[in-house]
Amino acid sequence: MRLKRVFVDDSAAAKVRAFFPWVYRDQLVEVDDGLEPGELVLVCPRKGRPLGVGYANLRSVISVRILSFDPEVVPDRSFFELKLRSALSLRDGLWSRTNALRLVHAEGDGLPGLVVDYYDGYASVQFNSAGMERLRGLVLDALRGLLPLRGILDRSDERMREKEGLPPSEGPIWGVVPDRIWVREGDLEFLVDLKEGQKTGFYLDQRANREAVASSFDPGTPVLDLFCHTGGFGLSCARRGAKEVVLVDVSRSALEMAGENARRNGLSGVSLVQADAFDFLRGERKRGAAYGTVVLDPPPFAKSRRELEGALRGYRDLVLQSARLLAPGGKMAIFSCSHWVGEEDLLGAIASGLADAEREGLVLLHLRQDQDHPVRVGAPMSYYLKGFLLSLL
Ligand SMILES: C[S@@+](CC[C@H](N)C(=O)[O-])C[C@H]1O[C@@H](n2cnc3c(N)ncnc32)[C@H](O)[C@@H]1O
Repeated sequence: MRLKRVFVDDSAAAKVRAFFPWVYRDQLVEVDDGLEPGELVLVCPRKGRPLGVGYANLRSVISVRILSFDPEVVPDRSFFELKLRSALSLRDGLWSRTNALRLVHAEGDGLPGLVVDYYDGYASVQFNSAGMERLRGLVLDALRGLLPLRGILDRSDERMREKEGLPPSEGPIWGVVPDRIWVREGDLEFLVDLKEGQKTGFYLDQRANREAVASSFDPGTPVLDLFCHTGGFGLSCARRGAKEVVLVDVSRSALEMAGENARRNGLSGVSLVQADAFDFLRGERKRGAAYGTVVLDPPPFAKSRRELEGALRGYRDLVLQSARLLAPGGKMAIFSCSHWVGEEDLLGAIASGLADAEREGLVLLHLRQDQDHPVRVGAPMSYYLKGFLLSLL
């Protein structure tokens, strides 16, 4: 197959040679005529050997995404079979802990625009770019040949598709997919709303961090799980002996599922509060509440570089307000799930919040997205979830 070519400027060429998988629109110097959105292309520097194969969409600010840094590779069916097989084997160690995991983490697995989450026999798939949309058939064939499935569901990200000039795409693709299923994580079961739930239904990325927090809290003191979604952190602590757990989320449906999760797992001492987390913290301060552990896992405050400063103010405020509820020796777990917020940024916001609260803190653990969300060297966008477990002095 002869591919059309896009020529990129020297800065883009240097970055692609260092395995950065994107080329921005303003880095293109020339493109072959008649390029269709999402078409496969050979990515070329101004002079010299091609840099790789990708797909292009001139409507998108990210105009080229690289699928292979070897210009000889053609992304055909066997390419996807190989990619999916190597993604699966990377996750070998997880099956003893869970039956729900991310099988394909976009750039992290070298497949920009594609996310595949696996929930006990069902695959939830996102085609988030014009290029991956065109390759949908190859991806689905490879996926069905990879492992036994009972159904495949489309949960593509509407916002990302819009940036690519694509219409929304959701709904069953193959087989019969139930609305909700129970999945296992360690010795807990969680209800996942496959069709309507946030993301593809569950925050798979926090699995290892739920385990880390549940292994390090003081069971004699209350646990506050803010932005709890379906209760992952708080219920993991309850399973490990926490007598009192407070789960707070603004979403009524997430909280209802958290309640179902508590019942299914036979956990008591769990209260559910539907509230804005910032208001809740201020209310708790007024009534003189005290906790031994606070978990702060907000949604991405920064969805672009422009939103970084506001995001850091948000983290600082969360740290300040939470620190006021924690006695000496209390634990705080705080996360950012935006790749725009770096570890140093988050640590800086934590430092300002603790300074405002006149508290010192120790970092007990550096936390990050679990291993089924691989971070690829050269692809910083694949590293989005970072956090710290702190002890307050
Ligand atoms: C990253 S998720 C939390 C995932 C959760 N920790 C888990 O392990 O499953 C963020 C959650 O924050 C909730 N949320 C968003 N804005 C909020 C707010 N202002 N106050 C409280 N909860 C909020 C969302 O409904 C979502 O469930």
